[in-house]
Parts: sequence; structure tokens; C-alpha cells
Amino acid sequence: MRIVVIGTGYVGLVSASCFAEMGHHVICVDTNAERIAQLRQGHIPIHEPGLDAMVRNNHQQSRLHFTTELRPALANVDVCFIAVGTPSSADGAADTRQVFMVAEDLGRYLPAACVVVNKSTVPVGTAERVERAIGEQLQQRQVSFTVSVASNPEFLREGCAIEDFMRPDRIIIGTADTRSTQVLQTLYAPFLRKNPRLLVMGRREAEMSKYAANAMLATRISFMNEMACLSESLGVDIESVRLGIGSDSRIGYDFLYAGCGYGGSCFPKDVRALIHTAQRHGLPSHILQAVEERNTIQKAGLFVKLKQHLGTLEGRRIALWGLAFKPGTDDIREAPALQLLESLIQAGAQVHAYDPVACDNVAHTVPTQWIDSAQLTLYASDPYQALEGAQALVVATEWKPFRQPDWKRIATLLQTPLVIDGRNIYDPQTMRENGFTHVGIGRGMQSTGYAALSRAA
Ligand code: UDX
Repeated sequence: MRIVVIGTGYVGLVSASCFAEMGHHVICVDTNAERIAQLRQGHIPIHEPGLDAMVRNNHQQSRLHFTTELRPALANVDVCFIAVGTPSSADGAADTRQVFMVAEDLGRYLPAACVVVNKSTVPVGTAERVERAIGEQLQQRQVSFTVSVASNPEFLREGCAIEDFMRPDRIIIGTADTRSTQVLQTLYAPFLRKNPRLLVMGRREAEMSKYAANAMLATRISFMNEMACLSESLGVDIESVRLGIGSDSRIGYDFLYAGCGYGGSCFPKDVRALIHTAQRHGLPSHILQAVEERNTIQKAGLFVKLKQHLGTLEGRRIALWGLAFKPGTDDIREAPALQLLESLIQAGAQVHAYDPVACDNVAHTVPTQWIDSAQLTLYASDPYQALEGAQALVVATEWKPFRQPDWKRIATLLQTPLVIDGRNIYDPQTMRENGFTHVGIGRGMQSTGYAALSRAA
């Protein structure tokens, strides 16, 4: 098939390269000329395991192309995916302006009928509105064809995006016509050889499924974080509770990890968008509001725990391991580490931070004076460099090499043996035996901090 993918962000670039990998002819279109130029030279703008090689290989084999010009890309196209961003607006609503700009362009330039598929996460009813927007332009041109828009939400996770796209748990297709259903069934068949779960439903249901899935996962995390908060006051270790409840097959082990809060480009944005949708319909969203509030408290917790143990943070040096919102990615959007960084610098602390891939993104995001004045020093090659003379180590992202570090070396480098374990990756007893003050999330009486925060909220 000839496929056009509009938008070269996470979803667009991964989808395009995986379709090309299956033998299709794929053209990626993006208005960002710099990004397109980089992609043509084989520079991948995001860190995603396996993506570099896949993009370069398919580009070299002429199955994957990059352009800023939509009109010529649409010649003979069979399927056109919309995969542009839908960021949060100031009021929490999903900002769908980019989606509708693409819709208008498609209406202006499509030379013939094709299957248009929306992959961006969009509010319920958007596929219908996009179809109307395209239709209005087609009518003005007085062409003889119409276009139907399908919804095909994407569930890939950053850090394992290729694996998720190649072997998905399920594919959801929301369509209003049999032609789109057939084309998408054919396109996805090779991805479903192991797990043939392709769900065909209405477009509104497909759009809602994406929001409901992310809201459900965020709810599980916030629920566990609330249990962790309670555990700190009750002298309970949340890690044992996680195992105790995860073993119930109705609950399962996934997404039960208490921690310093969820971040990234999806959960925070999608929970807020769903709350906004409910408000627009005059409906309360008790659960989703609570999920968001819990996450706000959770992200503030690392700073509070540090303060409890160190008193004032003015003039203190803090080592921070992990800046990305989760391991396997350089994405720092809504990362708990960034919130901690800001609080620490406002409090007059000096931060020495290590992340294997996210330092460049942080350097381009934070005020330059933080780095110029040495309030923030970034390390990308050696986590131990960040530790020297620090009064505490905070782990905000569970990168694999942090799991079993050289504790003897850490003890000699840190000025105070205090470890704030924001992802519960260390065993409290072993840490005590090694001479460290270990403060996790919900790990009994030693891990205080959240109770005071929660009472104040
Ligand atoms: C998520 C969804 O999983 C994916 O299906 C959707 O398409 C996009 O949003 P992603 O944002 O890549 O994917 O990250 P994910 O692995 O889901 O983690 C989100 C956040 O939750 C991270 O900050 C992670 O640290 C946190 N998390 C996850 C927890 O705090 N506890 C857990 O048990 C699991």
C-alpha cells in the first residue's frame, strides 16, 4: 500500500517506520522543515530503542520518505494517517487545532478518495468533525469523491514503542464504512499473527477507548500511591501489599508500582482532557479529579522527604539520578524529576543530575542561568560523577543501571548516606545493613513525608 503519515512525533514516526518495515511505501509529512531535514540525514529526533536502525534501513531501501510537502505526497495514496500532536490547552482541554489544519489541507489537496485514519488522541466526536472539515473543502473543489475518516488510537508506550507496535495487545479500529474496515484489517494483519485481537467498533467508542485506557492506568497508579501514603503512617511496606494484591488474577501485577508520580506526554494530558470533557457536559468527574490531585501530591513528595531529613535545603548539594519521565526514553514532559529540580533550585540547593539520555532535553528546557550559575550540573556519561559531596541521592527514574549500583563507592562519594528512593527499587533492609538512611515511597515508618502533604492538600 502507499501510506502517508502526517506528523513525525512518537506515534507518527514509529507507525510509519513499522509500516515500512512490513513492506509498504510510506511518506512522512511534517511542517517542521528542520526535523524533516534531520530525518533525511538519518538523525532521529527522539531516543527510542530500535527506532534509529529501523528508520535508517527503511529510508535507505526507499520504503520510507520524508517531506514537508503534503500535496505531492498524496498522489496515489491508499491510507493517510493523521498523527499530529494534541497537547493540553490552558483549561485542560485537548488542543486539536493541528488535527483540523491537517483536515483542511487534506480536503484541499487529496486528488482522489483514500482511507483517512486519525491516530492522534482526540476527544470523542473528532473523527466525525474531521470528516466534515475535509468534506467542506472537497465540496468547494466540486470533486466527485467523498472521504470517510476512521479512528485508530495508538497504545504504544515510549521506551518499547517498536515492540508494542509490532506485537500489540490489540488493535482498535473505529469506522463508519466497510471500505475503511477492510483496508485497516489488511494493513494490520501482519502485526496480529501472534495475537489476533482486532476490535472493530464505532468511531466514538474507539476514541473513548483510548482515553478510558489511559485514565484507568493512571487511576491504578494513583490508587497505589494513595495506599503508599497510608502505609507510611501505618508502618506497612507497600511492596508487600503490591505482591499481596497483584497475585489476585482479577487485579494483576502491572501498573501497581507506587512511586513519585506518573508523567509523560499521555497520562497527565489525557486525564485532564477527560475531566474537561465531563465538565463541558455538566458532569462531575470525582475519580479523575482525585487521580490528578493524588499525582500532584505525589510529585511534590520527593522534595518534602528531602526537607524532612535535611531541614533547610539552602546551600545543600543534592545528587539526582534520572531526569526522563520513565526509563528507556529521553522524554522529560511532566517528569517528576523536573518538578523536584525546580523546587530544589528555588530553595537554593545545588543539583548534580545524571541521566543517560535526557540531559540535552533538560539543558534546552530549563532557564540557562541554572546551568551558567552551576545551580544545576548535568552528567550524561557516569552516574557516580553526580554524587561527590552530595548530602543526598534522589532516584527519580528507575534506569536499569541504578538497580544494583556500587554501594561502597556511593558511601565514599556521598557526604551524608541518605537515599530517597522515588521508585522503590532498593530493599530497605539491605540499605540499612549497608549503612544508608533509605527513604522509599510507602515503605513503612522510615518512609515518611506523604502524610503531612496529603493532610495539607
Ligand atoms: C502510556 C500508555 O501506557 C500507552 O498505552 C499510551 O499510548 C501512552 O501513555 P507512556 O506514557 O509511554 O505510555 O508510559 P507508561 O509506561 O504507561 O508510564 C506512564 C507513567 O506512569 C510513567 O511516569 C511511569 O513511571 C508511571 N508508572 C507506571 C508508575 O508510576 N507506576 C506504575 O506501576 C507504572
